[in-house]
Amino acid sequence: MISYSLPASKRRRQPLILALLLLIALWSWHSTRSVKATRDEGFYPERYPLAWKHVSLASTRSGAWYIPPEWLDPSEPAPRNILEAAQLAQRLAVKGNHNIPYSKIPLIIHQTWKDTDLVTWKPDVLEGVEKWLTYATAAGNESMAYFLWLDEGCRQLVSGLQPDLAEYVDAMPLMVEKSDVFRILVVKLIGGVYGDVDTLPLRSPASWLDEKDVSAWTDPQTGTTYSTIARGSSVKQPIELILGIEGDNRPDTDDYWRMGYNYPVQLTQWALASAPNHPILKSFVSNFAAMVKEVTRPYEGDPKAIKNALYRVDPIELTGPAAVTLATKEWLEKETGLRWDALTGLVDHGRSKAVGDTLIFPITAFSPGRGKWHGMGSKPITDPDARVLHRAQGSWKRPNLKVEFGKFCRTVFGGCRDWSRVP
Ligand SMILES: *[C@@H]1O[C@H](CO)[C@@H](O)[C@H](O)[C@H]1NC(C)=O
Repeated sequence: MISYSLPASKRRRQPLILALLLLIALWSWHSTRSVKATRDEGFYPERYPLAWKHVSLASTRSGAWYIPPEWLDPSEPAPRNILEAAQLAQRLAVKGNHNIPYSKIPLIIHQTWKDTDLVTWKPDVLEGVEKWLTYATAAGNESMAYFLWLDEGCRQLVSGLQPDLAEYVDAMPLMVEKSDVFRILVVKLIGGVYGDVDTLPLRSPASWLDEKDVSAWTDPQTGTTYSTIARGSSVKQPIELILGIEGDNRPDTDDYWRMGYNYPVQLTQWALASAPNHPILKSFVSNFAAMVKEVTRPYEGDPKAIKNALYRVDPIELTGPAAVTLATKEWLEKETGLRWDALTGLVDHGRSKAVGDTLIFPITAFSPGRGKWHGMGSKPITDPDARVLHRAQGSWKRPNLKVEFGKFCRTVFGGCRDWSRVP
């Protein structure tokens, strides 16, 4: 009766393929699901009073900001846009010495998002922004300035303070790449702490560092000791750049690429902090400009081909965590002789590691609570080392079946090492 049946071998394989497809679908759903809710009017002012007051009601076309009233100086004119406000906060922070203790990093928080309309925000974003603002509006010497940059504000920052990069940032085909470059530029040009809108701070940046974080440490493999004392000097210097580890894997195994990292010890950029003009961030910027130039050179005068060429570049390497890791690694290796993999926390339970004026946090600082499976030494979010929690990962991206398949295949089967991570 059934004349179109498949050969037995194929028939046996069918349920397997179906199960695999289902698994992939579940996997991508799991990594991109969002929560929708409708609320009545009084909900936002009551539940998120600081975001309501300092973001929603304070919003301008370029963004919203809060500068602690006690920082203000009546002789300074009122800023007309977010760039002027950020430059004002920068001057006031220097004048009043409002820095993260042990550092020259100003107590200024930067975030960026596409709008200031709380009604459209996901709960993770609402809670995160409210918490950053709770720390910013704290009483006494722990208060901080806060900036939420809109697209128009990001454009002002680039065209105003880094005009040589404006053309390259405009050329980026993906929103995630513009946001990647923006976070580096804002802490390089203004200084302060950057946190993705879907991060939840667990400790105020004003208390991120203590004596222990800046104490000397030794690479057990080479016996070299590192500290905040610069080469050829005998005085301790303040920290000027803080970066955290997001991927911590043994370099002699496949673990790092199976988990989608480019380096065994890879840095994150969903949270970072810097004083203005750090040379590592300058190096990130020049690497980025050089890479864009190289990728687009063959297509000069053909905007469509340029866009396509840029679209094919992996954003993780062009502007993302791998680009941040490479700039930091090359600079520290060259300037301090650091053995990069010595930064791992797998052999010392994770500790902050100062290398001159640069401080690398262990994985728990910005990636706490990863759990036991592939946790890479990450401790629970209640651990004192935990500073920032990153929640809805990949909120900028849309799921793409090809990309999700690669991720699935690497993680579960340890194959597809060179499968593209871009659509
Ligand atoms: C605030 O003042 C206390 C006491 O002087 C000091 O220990 C702490 O480091 C200060 N915090 C900041 C953020 O300056």
